[in-house]
Amino acid sequence: MRRLSHRLILIFLAVPMMSSMAFGLDVELATNSLSGAQEHDHEHDHADEGAGLAWLGKLHPLVVHFPIALLLAAGLAELILALGGQKWAWLQGSARFSVLLGGIGALVAAPLGWLAATGAEYGSDLEGTLWWHRVLGTATAASAVALLIASERLARSLQPDPARSFFRALLFATCILIPLTGHLGATLVFGPAFLF
Ligand code: HEM
Repeated sequence: MRRLSHRLILIFLAVPMMSSMAFGLDVELATNSLSGAQEHDHEHDHADEGAGLAWLGKLHPLVVHFPIALLLAAGLAELILALGGQKWAWLQGSARFSVLLGGIGALVAAPLGWLAATGAEYGSDLEGTLWWHRVLGTATAASAVALLIASERLARSLQPDPARSFFRALLFATCILIPLTGHLGATLVFGPAFLF
């Protein structure tokens, strides 16, 4: 399980990195820090570290789409299972898989969000939006990780009923947090009037 998680984290980091390069996002900072490595003095090394971290923050908008889609899909699968009866039994297991990937995705996305927010300036009208996005984004990631643990415990539980109720309550709460967090994040990128 631990080995599988390590591999999944690597995939989650590698996929957005490769795709951002393929789409021609600004990799100048990263290449600069590689090409000029020999000439660097100590002070410049620190400047490059900061630039590298700032560049990593640019991956936040790419990575967030994984936990958003996967956790909402898990919520839908559990809702159908709860309401739909035996004919939907084939959905069993899909929530566990989606929560595993979505939880790891949220765990990667939130620190990248903190990096994206460091030093970012969105203007005074978006200060409150950034504050709420930061709070709700951190809460969403914490809830997604708790969900991942609850999901794995449920899979191993000898008394699945109470464990399943807890898992579903946490999953549905996370599914409420996700669109709120996502909407605030999109407001930061596209402006307050982007939707209506
Ligand atoms: C799992 C939790 C989170 C989710 C689902 C999420 C979701 C989003 C979404 C959907 C966007 C808009 C991306 C786009 O449309 O291109 C966004 C942007 C942003 N998020 Fe998050 N976010 C999360 C956590 C955080 C955290 C903890 C922070 C820390 C402050 C943060 C900071 C930002 C910033 C600064 C932007 C704007 C990026 C830019 O201007 O390019 N996010 N987020």
